[in-house]
Amino acid sequence: MAFPDIEGKYFLSYENIHQTVRALAERIASSGFAPDLIVAIGSGGFIPARILKTFLGKPILTVGITYYGPDNKPSETPRAIQWIDEVEKKLEGKKILLVDEVDDSRVTLEYCLKELLRHRPSEIAIAVLHNKRKEKKGRIPAEVRHYFAGVELDDKWICYPWDAIDIAAHEKISRSGVASR
Ligand code: G4P
Ligand code: MG
Repeated sequence: MAFPDIEGKYFLSYENIHQTVRALAERIASSGFAPDLIVAIGSGGFIPARILKTFLGKPILTVGITYYGPDNKPSETPRAIQWIDEVEKKLEGKKILLVDEVDDSRVTLEYCLKELLRHRPSEIAIAVLHNKRKEKKGRIPAEVRHYFAGVELDDKWICYPWDAIDIAAHEKISRSGVASR
């Protein structure tokens, strides 16, 4: 798969994302991990989780987390802007697949995993579209036995199609074939 790298950024098309999710779903299925529920970390994990549902057919719960403050600068800790609350009771004894678009610093993932583990799921696994190869600040708790990353990428900014203002221009760039790997 080509990953267009333009001026040090990756541009990914919707088709590319969909193919990555499909391959991820196949790997999850062949690992033997069969989730009961998908938990999407918003907002970046919403669209990947929805595409995963096409392949896994499981319901989605969502949590909204941001690691950026109101000034758009990274804050010290992730902040929950919406949490499962009432639905937390549904997690006990369940096999959860926690989904996000990117494993960057890993801080948000660690925060969510720890919160979800408090509600005693029987198993919890992580699926991200992209893992950035870098030193991670966050840690994955030992209880988490499965980690699935669609694609390993260098530590560069990833431009996702859902962030595009001009989607036609974005898709054109992402299909331009300037591949870095
Ligand atoms: P992690 O635990 O999953 O590694 O996430 P981390 O807290 O390090 O990420 C901080 C924020 O930066 C997240 O957004 C994440 O989606 C975003 N981010 C990190 N790298 C990239 C990138 O290369 N491209 C894009 N587009 N976003 C990136 P957030 O503040 O949680 O909000 P949201 O965007 O998910 O709503
Ligand atoms: Mg995110």
